[in-house]
Amino acid sequence: MTSKHPESPLTIAVIGGGVIGRTLARAWRRSGHGVTFGVRRPQDDDLLQFAAGIGANVAAIDTALAEADTVLLAIAGNAMPQVVPQLAPNLAGKTVIDATNNVGSPVLNSIADLSALAPTAHIYRAFNTVGWENFADPVYGDTIGDLLYSGPDGTVRQAVEKLIGDTGLRPVHLGDNDKAHLADALTALWFTLAFEQGYGRGVGFKVLTR
Ligand SMILES: NC(=O)c1ccc[n+]([C@@H]2O[C@H](COP(=O)([O-])OP(=O)(O)OC[C@H]3O[C@@H](n4cnc5c(N)ncnc54)[C@H](OP(=O)(O)O)[C@@H]3O)[C@@H](O)[C@H]2O)c1
Repeated sequence: MTSKHPESPLTIAVIGGGVIGRTLARAWRRSGHGVTFGVRRPQDDDLLQFAAGIGANVAAIDTALAEADTVLLAIAGNAMPQVVPQLAPNLAGKTVIDATNNVGSPVLNSIADLSALAPTAHIYRAFNTVGWENFADPVYGDTIGDLLYSGPDGTVRQAVEKLIGDTGLRPVHLGDNDKAHLADALTALWFTLAFEQGYGRGVGFKVLTR
């Protein structure tokens, strides 16, 4: 449950069995969290094999959600307007992290729909700003990268910070979800640097602090 001590292992539903879901699932399994992929094709051989390799489970989306205290949304961003209303009744009271980018839409995140349709969920915007390579390897020479994220303060936020830290990145809180647009601006910056300016998909971010 979301009232767990922030250091306690979580029961995480990773909705989406693509590259970002798999990368984060691997990091979270390494840190001792329980992970079940919730996907529309739970018999997919490739995902079943991957999940078995990291000690995760694969289930239908509703089954994965029913068991979870924490939910990562990691499906194609352009599917979110259709999928969120279907998921919402099963998100009540849970920690929900929106990692999706609805590229081509005026707003990349789905925070507004999630907040309206799952008002008791604890909703965060995280893991959207950089490519999956940065979650798999968060070290840049001598520097550890940062992950900037938004969402409400409190005990749940500490658990979300731990999930970010489980990847090796340092969490940097931007504030509540009225700042989610700042995380999304970073996504746009990441795309520009990675693909237009030639830095490649491994480019990451660091906030200099004293
Ligand atoms: N890749 C990255 O580096 C990265 C980084 C940060 C954020 N993101 C965001 O994370 C999300 C996933 O990216 P990805 O790279 O992991 O994509 P991906 O490898 O293409 O995987 C997409 C996943 O979404 C699922 N999906 C698509 N439409 C769906 C629907 N209508 N209902 C249920 N599931 C659906 C797919 O399921 P099927 O296999 O059944 O089609 C698949 O599991 C995207 O929104 C992306 O913008 C990606």
